[in-house]
Amino acid sequence: MPRRVTRTPATVALPAGVDGPDLDRVGAITDDLDPRGNLIAVLQRLQQEFGYLPEPVIDELARLSGVPASRIYGVITFYAQFSTTPSGRHRVCVCHGTACHVAGASRITEALEQELHVEDGGTTKDMEFTLDSVACMGACSQAPVMRVDDETYGNLTADQTRTIVRELIAELGLEVHPPGGAPEPAAEGGERS
Ligand code: FES
Repeated sequence: MPRRVTRTPATVALPAGVDGPDLDRVGAITDDLDPRGNLIAVLQRLQQEFGYLPEPVIDELARLSGVPASRIYGVITFYAQFSTTPSGRHRVCVCHGTACHVAGASRITEALEQELHVEDGGTTKDMEFTLDSVACMGACSQAPVMRVDDETYGNLTADQTRTIVRELIAELGLEVHPPGGAPEPAAEGGERS
């Protein structure tokens, strides 16, 4: 059976209906940590706060700190942990490092694409799940490995992956439908031939 091998922080997406980031929070974080000496830590705090790093937040950070936006973007694009696009409330990451690739990571991604009805790198329409391929998670002996929010699963098969994600969807009380929408309910008392 798949085994949980590590715990990592979950991502937090902006709540639905919120127009834009509260830029006062940028000031609160930069008051706490000087971005000129702690840029990565500040970006981590901002991403934790907003779920991702939207442009107005980066502009505000540049304005308050005097660190050029180009340098901030350079850091964001260098580190895979940072994202400038909104993420789903739950992040599903499949390791595609060498050991996991050899052990069948693509079958795991395929199973997730089918279960969540989203392509690798995408987010479901309801903003519940983001599916990503990532580099080595440091658990190669458990390959193939995936992480769902703060739980990491190893020694996966495609079937086990489907079971895990279906259980999670049920646990969260969600319904995941193909992009076309929910299937029509079966008609009751239909004629029999
Ligand atoms: S290659 Fe997947 S955990 Fe190392």
